[in-house]
Amino acid sequence: MNRLVLFHLLYSQCVLTLMYTPISSFSSPLSAAKVCKLQNSFEPGFVAKGDYIIGGIFPLHYNQEMPDLNCTYKPPPVKCNGFDPRAFRWAQTMRLAVEEINQSAELLPNYTLGYKIFDSCAYPLTGQRAALSVLNGLSEDDFPTCSGASPLLAVIGEAGSAQSVVVSRILQPFRIPMISYFSSCACFSDRRNYPTFFRVIPNDNYQVKAIAQLLVRFNFTWVGLVRGDHEYGRFAVQGLLRELQDTKVCVAYQQMIPLLYNRQRALEIMQVMRSSSAKVVVVFSAEGEMTPFLRDYMTQNITGIQWVASEAWVTASVFTASEYYPYLGGTIGFGIRKGHIPGLSDYLQTVNPQMYLNNTLLPSCSGQESLNNIYPWQLQYYLQEVTFNIAGEEVNFDLKGDSIPYYDILNWQRGTDGNIEFVNVGLFDGTKPAGEELVIQEDRIIWAGHQSEVPMSVCSASCLPGSRKAVRRGEPVCCFDCVPCDSGKINNQTDSIECKFCPEDFWPEKNTKQHLMGK
Ligand SMILES: *[C@@H]1O[C@H](CO)[C@@H](O)[C@H](O)[C@H]1NC(C)=O
Ligand SMILES: *[C@@H]1O[C@H](CO)[C@@H](O)[C@H](O)[C@H]1NC(C)=O
Ligand SMILES: *[C@@H]1O[C@H](CO)[C@@H](O)[C@H](O)[C@H]1NC(C)=O
Ligand SMILES: *[C@@H]1O[C@H](CO)[C@@H](O)[C@H](O)[C@H]1NC(C)=O
Ligand SMILES: *[C@@H]1O[C@H](CO)[C@@H](O)[C@H](O)[C@H]1NC(C)=O
Ligand SMILES: *[C@@H]1O[C@H](CO)[C@@H](O)[C@H](O)[C@H]1NC(C)=O
Ligand SMILES: *[C@@H]1O[C@H](CO)[C@@H](O)[C@H](O)[C@H]1NC(C)=O
Repeated sequence: MNRLVLFHLLYSQCVLTLMYTPISSFSSPLSAAKVCKLQNSFEPGFVAKGDYIIGGIFPLHYNQEMPDLNCTYKPPPVKCNGFDPRAFRWAQTMRLAVEEINQSAELLPNYTLGYKIFDSCAYPLTGQRAALSVLNGLSEDDFPTCSGASPLLAVIGEAGSAQSVVVSRILQPFRIPMISYFSSCACFSDRRNYPTFFRVIPNDNYQVKAIAQLLVRFNFTWVGLVRGDHEYGRFAVQGLLRELQDTKVCVAYQQMIPLLYNRQRALEIMQVMRSSSAKVVVVFSAEGEMTPFLRDYMTQNITGIQWVASEAWVTASVFTASEYYPYLGGTIGFGIRKGHIPGLSDYLQTVNPQMYLNNTLLPSCSGQESLNNIYPWQLQYYLQEVTFNIAGEEVNFDLKGDSIPYYDILNWQRGTDGNIEFVNVGLFDGTKPAGEELVIQEDRIIWAGHQSEVPMSVCSASCLPGSRKAVRRGEPVCCFDCVPCDSGKINNQTDSIECKFCPEDFWPEKNTKQHLMGK
């Protein structure tokens, strides 16, 4: 067990024990002194009352300050910074959906639907606190009966797979289904470990297939891999290596950005990137660690890197400012297909992000909540059966809770105002037969360094006719020397591994020595 994991375990136990004091009696629920009482509060960002409640967990901030948690004092409230507009829009989309259901005469008639939306700060342990708070009352001042009887039906969340892993473990015993909008880790397709997990984002097994095809398509045969220190990164890299096994692509290096960002370590990774001849770097990372990483990268004058971004950061609006363009322009990756939600853009325009900062202390539950009728676990069946359409494409869940794999291919180009724009240059349709999934409009791509020409990322240049490849002992097969054909032998193909004797009575051409070397 590494130190970080141990630290996390200590932290979570510390939080759990400090959050609750034991129940001394059930007999007198109105006596506040005798019932379970929250010792530490974690308020939702948005709350709306309802007969039934949908929980929401979103990384409204991408960074969290870590206090010294040594279990000797009550942990201070979570302190986060780095507002994330993309996650904020997700949260608003959930609010809109709940409000629409609530107002609809056909959906859920005679009952009101509300929500409790928490900020996970893109950090697993804060996601854990959010999950506990979704299950419980809002604050220490809550009316105690509220904490025991939760009208919670389901949880929408989390974004990062690392957070979803912990949230899932907390919700499982209560059989509360969770629907993630962004956790793509292949690990979640294991129904034994994640029985109540659903998602509306494709499993990363499809994304790594798509990335492998992209690398092969553009002859990027020598690539660097960088990942975040979490399940998402681990599974994605494993998957990509599996997909690359039978291709001509080799991995020059693998590096990991620490979970708790560490500048020293990041600079070491950048040194590896700078000194490697692999110009294409594939990054499986969340916005949380990628933001400080790229800020530091921009100070290092490294040029010529062609980024291939995982879906978690390929649409991250944190990086769209014009000063990023020289370093990140040309980035390519697979984004989750864009759907059109009627009314969403009007709705978003009525919301001011500043509202979020103030409304942390909102009303607790009404005490009127009924537990009859519906139980969360009953939803599992209906979720499994649900089918709907977005932008003409069907969305449903397979038995593993996965949805159908479509991706847009996004390319970071300079917009008219100098900022980075995400331009759609193709798509990956995982329902198509193998080999036909990837459709790219190559001429629309602008590569790193504002180039229209495909960058080269190879360990060794091709061996021309007249020579053959000679592998270098102890190095990947993509790294080789080109040696001229021995006398009497020829080779008329590029990148051949052998030269052949001419047929009997024939000799190698002399006058085309340059191409057909030999005598
Ligand atoms: C625990 O952390 C607190 C807050 O930083 C500090 O005041 C205290 O000395 C620490 N205790 C130990 C035993 O490290
Ligand atoms: C749901 O509808 C009720 C009654 O129409 C209303 O009072 C409440 O504010 C609505 N809640 C949400 C989240 O829209
Ligand atoms: C909703 O309430 C109305 C009036 O009380 C009743 O007639 C109707 O059957 C109820 N609908 C459902 C689905 O319970
Ligand atoms: C990739 O390499 C093959 C053969 O070496 C070549 O035919 C093809 O044009 C290259 N593709 C690109 C996009 O450079
Ligand atoms: C980056 O380049 C600028 C200008 O060429 C130079 O002043 C600066 O020291 C360089 N920074 C690093 C970290 O090399
Ligand atoms: C937030 O709260 C502060 C202090 O109560 C108040 O001055 C400010 O106007 C509030 N902002 C908004 C947007 O409501
Ligand atoms: C290479 O040589 C073989 C016979 O040695 C011939 O059949 C083939 O057409 C040649 N290929 C090219 C690309 O010249």
